Amino acid sequence: MKYILSLLLMSVTCFSTLAAKSVPFERDWHTFSNYQTVVSTHVHLDVKVDFNSKQIAGFIEHQLKALKSDVNQLVVDTRDLDIHKAEILHGETWVSTDFKLGDKDKVRGSKLTIAIKPNTQKVRIYYNSRPEASGLQWLTPVQTAGKKHPFMFSQSQAIHARSWMPIQDTPGMRVTYSAKVKTDKSLRPIMSATNDPKWDDKGEYHFEMPQPIPTYLIAIAAGNIHYKKMSKQTAIYAEPELLEASAKEFEDTQAMIDASEKLYGKYRWTDYDLLILPPSFPFGGMENPRLSFITPTVIAGDKSLVSLIAHELAHSWSGNLVTNATWRDLWLNEGFTSYVENRIMEEVFGKRRAIMEQALAAQGLDAELVDLPRGDTILHVEIEGRDPDDAFSGVPYTKGQLFLMFLESKFGRKNFDVFLRNYFDTHAFQSIDTKNFLIYIEKNLVNKHPGKVSMEQIVTWIKEPMLPSNAPKPRSDAFANVQKNMNAWLANDLAIKQMPSKEWTVHEWLYFINNLPENITLAQLAELDKQYNLTQSSNNEIAHAWLLLSINKGNKAVYERLEDYLISIGRRKLIVPLYRALIETNGNDQFAKRVYKIARPGYHPLAQGTIDNLFNKSAN
Ligand code: BES
Ligand code: ZN
Repeated sequence: MKYILSLLLMSVTCFSTLAAKSVPFERDWHTFSNYQTVVSTHVHLDVKVDFNSKQIAGFIEHQLKALKSDVNQLVVDTRDLDIHKAEILHGETWVSTDFKLGDKDKVRGSKLTIAIKPNTQKVRIYYNSRPEASGLQWLTPVQTAGKKHPFMFSQSQAIHARSWMPIQDTPGMRVTYSAKVKTDKSLRPIMSATNDPKWDDKGEYHFEMPQPIPTYLIAIAAGNIHYKKMSKQTAIYAEPELLEASAKEFEDTQAMIDASEKLYGKYRWTDYDLLILPPSFPFGGMENPRLSFITPTVIAGDKSLVSLIAHELAHSWSGNLVTNATWRDLWLNEGFTSYVENRIMEEVFGKRRAIMEQALAAQGLDAELVDLPRGDTILHVEIEGRDPDDAFSGVPYTKGQLFLMFLESKFGRKNFDVFLRNYFDTHAFQSIDTKNFLIYIEKNLVNKHPGKVSMEQIVTWIKEPMLPSNAPKPRSDAFANVQKNMNAWLANDLAIKQMPSKEWTVHEWLYFINNLPENITLAQLAELDKQYNLTQSSNNEIAHAWLLLSINKGNKAVYERLEDYLISIGRRKLIVPLYRALIETNGNDQFAKRVYKIARPGYHPLAQGTIDNLFNKSAN
């Protein structure tokens, strides 16, 4: 009896400590959908990926759950879709129903309103996407590694899923999904779902995502995609030309999963595969569940850039399991993920490397903060009326990461690890917004360990601009040593040949390049280049840092390489700063315009939009 009573008591206390008292989520401004009235719980896609017309065409079926009574319409998001018809399931038969496509809003697209009955359970919408869909890129064969087959891929985050399917497009709700996809026989489709690693010679594929996910994680790609298993839970999907190199570069992915599970609990998505995309992929990576999409620009040959994989994997907890409820709350995805990423790197590659990566990120943020509009330096950023893509910055990532590092240092790693693990478990397969996060952390961290950090300090981190004075400042001994050598070289106390640079890792090189002094001369840059061949570095991060510095210092010796770099890579983070520097420095206008004209057709719509904006702003 006593035993039962204590068990009961235990479960009551567990429940009351774990389940935070929550308040209703802030409504997501970036959706037109009526997801708080009637919600899709499962979507089924029956589509053809048509490379000739550059369209995804077919129907989407929504399984509905009414959250209020007397519901008579379903509102979904669309952008640049052609809607052919809508049907509702009436008993056993599909009957056509009225629909209305609203005017186009610049940020949100067009609202699609479909007449339903209060008891309607299923709706089908027949549609096609357009070639200019913001969430898809259709590549010609020359844009691929193999040069023989076309390729297409989606990038749905933040609000682009609506450009390739009519859907309630908000991270405040979740769907399971299934799909039947047809393509040309030789162009295999693959989705963020269960994938049968075998080719289907009929060109018809089936996918199933049994776990509920936010819609920005629905993803598709098709092309000459081959498969190579790496370990019990990991595999590479890539064009055959990239398969071996990718498998070698990312062979530690299983170790990363094992490390994450040890820290934060079970990996809940069965397998973790990587899809290596062509170089025009606009991001480093995208955490599509079971199948992260990865830029080939991180295949450096020495695993120096694999923190990207740790990052996308970390989203399997922060983001995919526990999801930001609106795009204002992006820091809950990216800040937590950047922190977890670094913890994984520490486990797998050691503390020295993890600290170097912290220090580089913190330096990058400092540089970025100088130029950002003050409002955009707030974690809980105001983005109503704006496209989330335009508000994108390092703030949710690195300020978010520094915030969690701050908490870790104050509460102690052990306590903070327990907190994080419980946070993931308690909110698994749910969304959370900043307001509810504050309630949760107050109850489960701040009040549990009184006297360590006040809610006021936490609110300052989340609601105030810039970095608070108590922000951690990661310090790397390795970098201090690089700095010492750099100083000696600059003071002519050390010949360039005597710098111990043979032992430097890519991170140390990045520190070196990024921290060369303002007054570095062209002669010194030439000396460095002669000695280290930095212009021709095949490491895309080193090349980026060197090219950026060179633009700012007027080092014209790099321009041929710069042109080549800008034309062959479409990853926004690597190219946008280069265009910005070209536009902002004197005398580079013509070069920038000429190169962009050649490069633009090869860029993703997202990258095109960002760079078009840069040129337009400078023209005004
Ligand atoms: N989920 C992001 C990419 C993203 C964020 C797309 C917001 C659209 C809107 C992805 O996980 C990411 O953060 N990628 C980074 C990786 C880096 C920080 C290691 C990137 O692409 O550079
Ligand atoms: Zn991320």
